[in-house]
Amino acid sequence: MIRQRAPETTREAGPAPCPGAEPDNGLVTSLSDPLSLTHGPAWGNRLALAPLTNTQSNPDGTLSEDETAWLEARGRGGFGLVMTAAAYVAPAGQPWPGQLGIASDLHLPGLTRLAERLRATGTVSSVQLHHGGRRADPALTGRPNQCPWDDPAKDAVAMTTGEVEQLVADYVAAAVRAERAGFDGVEVHGAHGYLLGQFLDARNQRTDGYGGSLEHRQRVVVEVLEGIRAATGPEFQVGLRLTPEGNGITLEEGRETARLVLASGLLDYLDMSLWDVFMRPRGGAPGLLIEHFTDLPRGGTRLGVAGKVLSAADARWCLEQGADLVTVGMGAIRHHDFAARVLADDAFVARPVPLTREQLREEAVGPAFIDYLAAGWPDVVA
Ligand SMILES: Cc1cc2nc3c(=O)[nH]c(=O)nc-3n(C[C@H](O)[C@H](O)[C@H](O)COP(=O)(O)O)c2cc1C
Repeated sequence: MIRQRAPETTREAGPAPCPGAEPDNGLVTSLSDPLSLTHGPAWGNRLALAPLTNTQSNPDGTLSEDETAWLEARGRGGFGLVMTAAAYVAPAGQPWPGQLGIASDLHLPGLTRLAERLRATGTVSSVQLHHGGRRADPALTGRPNQCPWDDPAKDAVAMTTGEVEQLVADYVAAAVRAERAGFDGVEVHGAHGYLLGQFLDARNQRTDGYGGSLEHRQRVVVEVLEGIRAATGPEFQVGLRLTPEGNGITLEEGRETARLVLASGLLDYLDMSLWDVFMRPRGGAPGLLIEHFTDLPRGGTRLGVAGKVLSAADARWCLEQGADLVTVGMGAIRHHDFAARVLADDAFVARPVPLTREQLREEAVGPAFIDYLAAGWPDVVA
């Protein structure tokens, strides 16, 4: 079923429409238009596979054939960008069993094979870089969680300044590893209340320059992006995922962080994790949530949005709002070739859930991923 579009009145109440969007000739970009970025190869179209944790990696964080096949099928299925699930940059950041790792050269052979197989499909590839912080699992990591502040309820101890510097180094080393493996880029996971998001959180009142004012809370994200840029080549694409509001971040602050990184010249794209591209701000701000980001000046940085895009019309609507690209999760679970179907058929709508295990297997969703979906998203698996 095609989602109801927001009434015109809602949009009028929001910020001015999208001066950052391209092209500036009044025409809306088409989903099939290639996406050029500041660095590296252009994407073949405007549809990106969302990072989707699938718990299919081996216990040591190396890639399994099921996880490789899941991603390769999305490359064959027409996505302009295929991104891995959140991959831990340090063992201390692991929240889930079966999570992909990029914390050691042990992880390189599997990642190298994946990068090769993705390239053969014609897609552009990226690894999402992640650290769980206070949301890691001590039972997996064997140590107390790391967090910007002491948080006994989460078994978390405030990081020393040296540990914050090590965190930046771990992100940079992981990005270099992704480049060595042959990926076209990385996306830094700064969203959903994981460690980089915990630094942005207003509860982070550190006094060592990494907490307190918004500028100081943003510092670790900026240092990670600067470090990756300095350590990787001119063709390497760097994206960042952010939460617009929530997880200790007000919409005003979410917008200021987006404004900062869009203007920084450090990023190829900003991926705003809206969870529902059609939603209104939770805190009562006017208009639609998406409008609070599409109206920001973005220079050469591309803007992506994610959340409940399940049809060609939904994806087109995002571009009409001023986004440059659309990130798709659940639609890509329902159809490995969601992107190809959207590009081929303006009226395409993803099939409804639940899907049977058999149907999911046909879409290259492996048994461990199906179990993970059944536990967390019971409406998806019959
Ligand atoms: C099973 C599952 C796993 C996810 N794993 C990640 C992840 O590893 N990293 C991340 O940034 N977001 C993750 N997300 C969020 C998705 O990337 C996406 O933003 C969200 O599902 C909304 O888009 P959708 O409605 O198209 O699925 C996950 C979502 C789901 C359903």
